[in-house]
Amino acid sequence: MRNVTKDNITDVFMGYLSDETDPRTREIMGSLVKHLHNFARETNLTHDEWRRGIAFLEGCAAVETEDRHEFVLASDVLGLSSLVDMLHSSEGATSSSVLGPFHVSGAPPLAYGGDMKRHYGGPMLLAEGVIKDTEGKPIPGAQLDIWQTAPNGLYASQDDEQDTFSFHGLMTVGEDGRYAFTTVKPVEYTVPSDGPVGDILRACGRHPWRPSHLHYIVTAPGFKSLVTEIFPDDDPYLDQDTVFGVRDDLVMRYVEAPASEFPDGMALSGKVTEPFLRVAFDVTLMRDS
Ligand code: BEZ
Ligand code: FE
Repeated sequence: MRNVTKDNITDVFMGYLSDETDPRTREIMGSLVKHLHNFARETNLTHDEWRRGIAFLEGCAAVETEDRHEFVLASDVLGLSSLVDMLHSSEGATSSSVLGPFHVSGAPPLAYGGDMKRHYGGPMLLAEGVIKDTEGKPIPGAQLDIWQTAPNGLYASQDDEQDTFSFHGLMTVGEDGRYAFTTVKPVEYTVPSDGPVGDILRACGRHPWRPSHLHYIVTAPGFKSLVTEIFPDDDPYLDQDTVFGVRDDLVMRYVEAPASEFPDGMALSGKVTEPFLRVAFDVTLMRDS
């Protein structure tokens, strides 16, 4: 096409795709380019603004390392990661939520009732529940991969003071599908804001805070894996999570209980002398097919 105009350029782009283009690639590229072109037309995007957009992408690439995923973070704060999650969540199962960049694979096994708090200060939280199917039946042998920040708001991979798997654990549930562990009550924290994504947040007058949460990945043979989080219902950032991860069914009450109610059969049974917090959170998995 020689006579490319601002009105026909999207169709010209589509015409450039060869007949052999895979149909899904055609659909995705066609839609992406249509929306990009409409965005430029709608906003009457200037050269300077276009250059700033390119500089943002270059800035993300410049800070990207094995431990720092600025493009994923950009997707998170723009709501794209959460939207993709919600588009593919299974009705009837527990809602999924963002994975985030701080999960470390290969966490050490955590037995039923195990303790992740160790020597750390802060309120103790006992988290417990059942991993079940959509009919409410426990799923024996399901695995729960758990991770959270230390009380300083940092994940192990961000903090030289913590060992690799601090506040990470992998629990396999028994016949009754039950899990339980003690930890320190998670704290609110900020996503990294010292790079290009931080510049976007500041330009939009947004803060980098996430409400406090526990992360879970729940897997079981024959079931769809679930990546999710639990939030306490009194967190000040629940209604303004900077990565859009909060869903109604993931918000739970952390109830204070006297030391005398600490259950038997846990690593810390008989050693708890102060009141502690307790949260019950059952996880429902959807069958694979
Ligand atoms: C997190 O919850 O660990 C997280 C999620 C998205 C971006 C940054 C952190
Ligand atoms: Fe997190």
